[in-house]
Amino acid sequence: MQTVAVIGTQWGDEGKGKIVDLLAADAAVVVRFQGGNNAAHTLVVGGEKFILRMVPAGALHPGKTCVIGNGMVVDPFALVEEIDRLKKHSQLSDPALLKISYDAHLVMPYHQAIDRAREERLGKRKVGTTGFGIGPAYEDKMARSGLRFADLASPAAFKSRLEYNLKEKNLYLKNVLKAKPVDGRRLLAQIAPMRRRLMPYLADTAALVAGVAAEGRKILFEGAHGTMLDIDHGTYPYVTSSSCLASAVFSGGGLPPGRLDAVLGISKAYTTRVGGGPFPSEIKGALSDRLREEGNEFGSATGRPRRVGWFDAVSARYAARLNGMWGLALTKLDVLTGVNPLRICYAYQIGSKRYDEMPPSCLALDKVRPLYEELPGWDENLGEARSLAELPENARRYLDRIAQLSGVKLAMVGVGAAREAIIILENPFLN
Ligand code: GDP
Ligand code: IMO
Ligand code: MG
Repeated sequence: MQTVAVIGTQWGDEGKGKIVDLLAADAAVVVRFQGGNNAAHTLVVGGEKFILRMVPAGALHPGKTCVIGNGMVVDPFALVEEIDRLKKHSQLSDPALLKISYDAHLVMPYHQAIDRAREERLGKRKVGTTGFGIGPAYEDKMARSGLRFADLASPAAFKSRLEYNLKEKNLYLKNVLKAKPVDGRRLLAQIAPMRRRLMPYLADTAALVAGVAAEGRKILFEGAHGTMLDIDHGTYPYVTSSSCLASAVFSGGGLPPGRLDAVLGISKAYTTRVGGGPFPSEIKGALSDRLREEGNEFGSATGRPRRVGWFDAVSARYAARLNGMWGLALTKLDVLTGVNPLRICYAYQIGSKRYDEMPPSCLALDKVRPLYEELPGWDENLGEARSLAELPENARRYLDRIAQLSGVKLAMVGVGAAREAIIILENPFLN
């Protein structure tokens, strides 16, 4: 297959970065198509850890074109830092390999200030955002007042639109949110150096993607966040502000509809969530602390401890349907070593009603009683396994049950953070 999308099926941090890094070896182009630096995708290559926020996780393979698509909202100052960090490790040395869409929107410091001030005002009801200004930047995009990379081409017009926005945002910050306004002079002074750094990367990335697809070369689309954080289908309002589903590769990446060959859904062998909102299969107490430690479940974007839960087959089926999933990559199976028994949530109970599928509009998810089945665990270390045959029988049984309950075939199984710590059953690019 030639065009593949990697999509999170849970609440983010499923291990998408690691799978993108692996698949990128066979792709010509890797494309991010939504979100911004609220994403943090971790790769462990040659014993070194890299966290990519906006640059696609194909960047660690030489010669791959990496695209920041039009559907993204980009903090340009953070992007300059990210590029410099990668260059220090001799990556992205050829500027022709990074392409930023003219149409991607800019996240400005006033977006971050508004994001943080609003969260503070919400108190207990806060979403638990990353505070990186993602929601307010998407609001401006929809309100048609956002600034895009294309606007950098005319510095005078850019300055005047930025000043107009600043005035309005600072009034809102001061008078409504009772927060500190943004220093406009400082911001304006930062624009010219940022413009000089990023202008060389700008490109018509939608045309590039469509062209590469027409030539029959391989393209990998790197989803951010996860299905349950999707603005339309997630646990609203405890979601992020973009479309996180496979369907967003068309609007946010420029791939013509009908040209996407396969969607690989990524899921942990259990579940995690950062921030507020319902989490039906959440585990409380000592076992959650243990899984958090074993799985190093601390947010790579903000360092916050991740909430931990059992594998949720109801949300897995929901993600499989919404994304038209071809296969499932299950990560972090190694973290479950020593947990006995293991549980899988196969249905929800709300009041006296049982739900085998996600309740409409994820309603009353905070009132769910999860229905679990139990499976026996294993004590063996899985880190060296490279085939299913090398796994203990109970681990294989657990995998079979997850695939069966999710209704999707298993394509890969992660057994460690390193690039090579994976069991590959089927690689969509080699299929
Ligand atoms: P992403 O946002 O979906 O790319 O996921 P993150 O990178 O935020 O979080 C996943 C974490 O799990 C990272 O620290 C990865 O290095 C790590 N990881 C990925 N796959 C595996 C695996 O199979 N086993 C273990 N132990 N860690 C993994
Ligand atoms: P990756 O791509 C985990 C969560 C935040 C918060 C909610 C809204 O690394 O999987 P936002 O700042 O986006 O407005 O916050 O969404 N969230 C993520 N959680 N992984 C992510 O990305 C996330 N991106 C956003 O924690 O609950
Ligand atoms: Mg992450």
